[in-house]
Amino acid sequence: MASRDPSDIAVDKLTEAQARAELMRLALEIGAADRRYYQEDAPTLTDAEYDELRKRNAAIEARFPALVRADSPSKRVGAAPARGFRKVRHAVPMLSLDNAFADQDVTDFVGRIRRFLKLSDDEPIVFSAEPKIDGLSMSLRYENGALVTAATRGDGAEGEDVTANIRTLEDVPQRLKGKNIPPVCEVRGEVYMTKSAFLKLNQQQAKEGGQIFANPRNSAAGSLRQKDPRVTASRPLGFFAYAWGEMSELPEDTQSGMIRWFERCGFRTNPLTKICRSADELIAFHARIGDERAGLDYDIDGVVYKVDRIDWQQRLGFVSRSPRWAIAHKFPAERATTVLRDIEIQIGRTGALTPVGKLEPVGVGGVIVQNVTLHNEDYIRGVGGHGEELREGRDLRLGDTVVIQRAGDVIPQVVDVVIDKRPKTAKPYKFPTHCPCPLKTPVVREETSTGEEGARSRCTGEFACPFQKTEHLRLFVSRRAFDIDGLGEKQIALFFEKRWVEEPADIFTLEKKHRKELLAEEGFGEVSVRNLFAAIDARREIALERFIYALGIRHVGETTALQLARAYGSWKAFHDAGLKIAKGDAEAAAEMDAIDQIGDTVVEAVRAYFKEKHNLRIVENLTGEVTVIDAEKPKKDSPVAGKTVVFTGSLEKMTRDEAKAMAERLGAKAAGSVSKKTDYVVAGPGAGSKLTEAQKLGVKVLSEDEWLKLTS
Ligand code: IVH
Repeated sequence: MASRDPSDIAVDKLTEAQARAELMRLALEIGAADRRYYQEDAPTLTDAEYDELRKRNAAIEARFPALVRADSPSKRVGAAPARGFRKVRHAVPMLSLDNAFADQDVTDFVGRIRRFLKLSDDEPIVFSAEPKIDGLSMSLRYENGALVTAATRGDGAEGEDVTANIRTLEDVPQRLKGKNIPPVCEVRGEVYMTKSAFLKLNQQQAKEGGQIFANPRNSAAGSLRQKDPRVTASRPLGFFAYAWGEMSELPEDTQSGMIRWFERCGFRTNPLTKICRSADELIAFHARIGDERAGLDYDIDGVVYKVDRIDWQQRLGFVSRSPRWAIAHKFPAERATTVLRDIEIQIGRTGALTPVGKLEPVGVGGVIVQNVTLHNEDYIRGVGGHGEELREGRDLRLGDTVVIQRAGDVIPQVVDVVIDKRPKTAKPYKFPTHCPCPLKTPVVREETSTGEEGARSRCTGEFACPFQKTEHLRLFVSRRAFDIDGLGEKQIALFFEKRWVEEPADIFTLEKKHRKELLAEEGFGEVSVRNLFAAIDARREIALERFIYALGIRHVGETTALQLARAYGSWKAFHDAGLKIAKGDAEAAAEMDAIDQIGDTVVEAVRAYFKEKHNLRIVENLTGEVTVIDAEKPKKDSPVAGKTVVFTGSLEKMTRDEAKAMAERLGAKAAGSVSKKTDYVVAGPGAGSKLTEAQKLGVKVLSEDEWLKLTS
């Protein structure tokens, strides 16, 4: 008798061998269907047929759990997040909030505002206190009352266009209700999924063999990043409005007024929002919401306090990426106890050896944690100076029971070791003396100049070390650098292995040199390859700050890159300065040193970078492929625009940081040291060497009052 095709046999009748064959067939078929649907936009199955396949796969796996394949569709992101959402530049950047943890931080926040605005102690400050929703922030742009774009936060400057998906949310009106709606309104708020909807969705996903989400926030994110809006529509997402971006007119003059206005326009706003009039009232609000937190059907990770008067918000302005008029008062981090099983060494882009703790998986704050960073050798040895929270003097050994903590999005940390539970046989950990890279070069210990992070261990393989090369490429394509859709860590690893991409410029010649070979690779269809090259081409023009960050100069993180970009304005100016510094030009070095928040460490790192011929070649090759866009210049219409100012001595009407921020807002450069290029030195009582230097160089010296008069 001819054997029956197993695909015709009911699940409960399958033998083990038939089940195994069926699972293989289903993995292949569902995989192919996913590819056609998500990457090639050319589905060949109806939704019902596709669902049938997934259901059958899940049912067979439920009956034969031992046969579940490593490549089973039930393990894969069922609805693979679609690539290639269009990028949207926010008309007004989407910023983040500073955090307060202790009550004292709240009192300080209120004190800072009082001082900044020069309010007397009896002048009341009204705050809008709101729960901090743990979802995804969203900017909704309405033109002439109609929703035109919905964009995710992205990196704050540029997000992703998810308009089609957002239109499926009941809480988001397609048209703003009411009269006299300003022609341009950007309404901002949080997209979230309720806890109950999240649990239900996961149950359903498990049944159908779809993706299981770690927490409501992830499931909201996954539900939004769908190529097919019908999938988003099937997910219960909510939206609370709480802020705004570009507004051609402001209909109200307070935060609480704006919230009421959002309601009149047809939005939902958070019902727990409350007006508070003092630090004590804010702290009491935090405590009350903390008590109610577990009973709410949506996740919150703190409360947000905002100065209610918008004119005061405007006067208070921003410090770096956060407003001075608002703060997030977080709830304490959640902790859990688990066992440290192993320590793995990872090699960073600059050759630093970073130990990663491998934990017995444990749930904390709604996610499963298996890895923790252990910073460096000194941290593991329990010797001070690392600035982390591990209790002073305690070392970490394999088999130790450790307390870990996770706060919001922060990478989990080990905060304590339970010495009583240490296995008797546990020995102190021996940090490797040689790099685990194929070169096996000796590791050197390097003391950081700040001493904050303790000693770093570094591989001496430099540019020959393949780990370092790939790490740099990874940084290069990362979200805050070139951010190329479809070119992530996985692809970079593959291209590197094939030796198609060994340095950044190779990414831009990939199409010319390796298109055919790429098409022959598994998982790279015509459409996905076309999309990848389009995404690469879209980045042939790149903002200066991203470009500088992407170079991977040591100590030049995103914020420093932004400072450098703003200060130099163009790639040419920065490049020239780097070359001069490398040649030992003291003036060029002093000029960089004088940029606010930039000191010796960065200048030294820039010097080291530009001294290295290999780097210069990489940069030259890269600039042959991409065009770097000049940085935006700060405001030009203030009397101090373009001037360089140094604050010294104690200021009486504002703090030093506030003074610097104010100068920057007005387009001036706040520098840390006095040079010939300084235009003003603002000196308060107790000014010392900077004042003397200014007098020596003939730089104009102002009192705090004179400065305020000049700038008001
Ligand atoms: S105000 C300029 N209000 O928290 C500040 N943010 O760390 C604009 N968030 O990205 C944000 N609830 O995703 C504000 N009531 C609330 C919020 C809130 C949650 C999130 C938001 C933002 C992050 C800031």
